[in-house]
Amino acid sequence: MRLAFFISGRGSNMEVILDAIDHGHIPATANLVLSNKAGALGLTTARERGIPSIFCDHRDYDSREAYDYVLAHHLQEHKIDAVILAGFMRILSPVLIREFQGKMLNIHPSLLPKYPGLHTHQRALNAGDTEAGATVHFVIEELDAGAAVLQARVQIKENDDVAKLSERVLQMEHIIYPLAVKWLAEGRIHWRDGAAYLDQELIPEHGVQFTM
Ligand code: GRF
Repeated sequence: MRLAFFISGRGSNMEVILDAIDHGHIPATANLVLSNKAGALGLTTARERGIPSIFCDHRDYDSREAYDYVLAHHLQEHKIDAVILAGFMRILSPVLIREFQGKMLNIHPSLLPKYPGLHTHQRALNAGDTEAGATVHFVIEELDAGAAVLQARVQIKENDDVAKLSERVLQMEHIIYPLAVKWLAEGRIHWRDGAAYLDQELIPEHGVQFTM
């Protein structure tokens, strides 16, 4: 399976997936890294690893759709089978999402369906939640609303702040995202009529719950 990664920043999730590919844990190849931010650290990672990388500035395009057509073109050129969103801070339009329905994953730093969108950790702390986490989900047109595949939970501690909590959640992200991408590459997960399946069995609403 030929993968593309869409990133906007540090790209630590992408990096752990690349490591898993290099170690032979995921039957896939990384064939493209695309960023909408010129200074994204993940672009340097891609260059160092010899993966084709593209900086494509959304500000050069009049509409979301016009930008997404260009992204779709790059994906086609590199014969990409699946797209891994890893900290890509752009909402994608149906132009792209429909073409990769069931072949596009995202990781979101909350226990979806709780807290779609931004500032998830702050919102969990403000609400006095006792747990937080991360969810890998299929991407659909509605933001952070696609069927969940895999979810990991962490306890919120009394003295937690956003920095401490996001660090603990990120550690879980780095475990569950490579696993979900592995399932995708192995053909074990599917998206059908808005629901996610693992080995042909319906995945519950919150995703498969990851336990250490
Ligand atoms: C992660 O917290 C991820 O859940 C969110 O954006 C962040 C990306 O971090 N979608 P990185 O760029 O993978 O380090």
